[in-house]
Amino acid sequence: MSRSARLVPAVAALLALALTGTACDAGVRGAPGGSGVHDPYFPSAGNGGYDVTHYALTLDYAPATRRLTGTAVITARAIQDLTAFDLDLDGLDVGSVTVDGRDARWNRAGQELTVRPHDDLRAGRTFTAAVRYSGVPRTLTDSDGSREGWLRTAEGALGLGEPVGSMAWFPGNHHPSDKAAYDIAVTVPVGLQAVSNGELAGRTGKGGRTTYSWHTAQPMASYVAVVAVGRYDIGRTTGPHGLPVLTAVDPQQAKASKGVLAKIPEILGWEEPNFGPYPFSSAGAIVNRPGDVQYALETQTRPVFPGAPDTGTLVHELAHQWYGDSVTPLSWRDMWLNEGFATYAEWLYQEDHGGKSAQQAFADLYESHDDSLWAFPPARPADAAHISGRPVYERGAMVLQKIRRKVGDAAFHDILRGWAAAHRHGTADTAQFTAFVEKRAPDKDFGEIWKDWLYGDGRPDRP
Ligand code: TRP
Ligand code: ZN
Repeated sequence: MSRSARLVPAVAALLALALTGTACDAGVRGAPGGSGVHDPYFPSAGNGGYDVTHYALTLDYAPATRRLTGTAVITARAIQDLTAFDLDLDGLDVGSVTVDGRDARWNRAGQELTVRPHDDLRAGRTFTAAVRYSGVPRTLTDSDGSREGWLRTAEGALGLGEPVGSMAWFPGNHHPSDKAAYDIAVTVPVGLQAVSNGELAGRTGKGGRTTYSWHTAQPMASYVAVVAVGRYDIGRTTGPHGLPVLTAVDPQQAKASKGVLAKIPEILGWEEPNFGPYPFSSAGAIVNRPGDVQYALETQTRPVFPGAPDTGTLVHELAHQWYGDSVTPLSWRDMWLNEGFATYAEWLYQEDHGGKSAQQAFADLYESHDDSLWAFPPARPADAAHISGRPVYERGAMVLQKIRRKVGDAAFHDILRGWAAAHRHGTADTAQFTAFVEKRAPDKDFGEIWKDWLYGDGRPDRP
């Protein structure tokens, strides 16, 4: 939903116009939608020409053979006249593709599944593409060496997406700029459970298999979609205003996780006055066995942890629900809007709970001469391998502390809440953030903060 057209260059529109002839042409003679949205770091991620509003994924996973059988029904709106459009899908075998119920032609090249519907699609039209697929999904290795996509676990599997792993388990428009609602149904052998984002809408059993149906009403970027198949202890409680909280914990991690997960309602209760109303209709966590996954990830409503988290990590992933999941970066270059904010949330929580102040955290880091912190500016990571580097997290949080010192605590509080409110359930980029801050504090000069701290190379001269 609310896909921004900012990444689709005007050139593409001109080209489409050139190919379709004059505007008063009676027939629909569109153009292909294009194989990417020109992300600066992942040029093939996402696709042009349409905007997905809903994914209905029906998945069946057999851990014994590691085979995934799926149908993805994708409801989307054409944003130009389309003769063809692409979906991103890595590996797996495609059995059939239909568009609005009619067989469509399709072919594959790398991660691009190009679909040519029987009839061209006119701009503005809503259409439904159904893709049947199966196979053993791949685990992808990121340019920074971490693993995502479909990960095999001790008893099942874990589908994770940041930054481009979701294309290993379902076809879609895999770029953060196109968010959509989801219904994810997963069938697994009896004795195993399948946990995903949002609320459990149903559980049915048939012939030794159980289907878990999960519903996500609020827009979600595909990189924060999750499926976890395994044996879990399920815990249910409520957070602020009766918010349903569902946790799924590997039994081996149950004891170590119990105390920290019990803090979820309290942490959300602290985050709400700081960041604004919680953006989704449920919350929770998934705790896996260490080794099954190496990092925590802010999967929407239900972040994933590699074993029992510490309080700081829990605060961080829950803060991402506002900054990252609700306000989603428009491109992978804007990652500091996720990680700088989530790191700052840890500093703020610490400050409010008898630990060191955010200013002290800033000062300690400023004194650090570890080159990795100053390797590149937070808003301009060198390349795809660096989008999760220290400057994005820590120097990103330092930018926020600089803003706080400049505007004062009250105005800074309004900026944190206001930013989450202004782009709730949407997307935003760094230029929108700096403009937002300037508008909120028109009498202040942020020139040096942007130039030296956000975009500048090396360690700024003045703290
Ligand atoms: N976003 C995760 C976190 O909180 C970290 C992470 C996991 C990540 N996988 C990634 C960051 C891939 C960038 C790319 O903090
Ligand atoms: Zn993070």
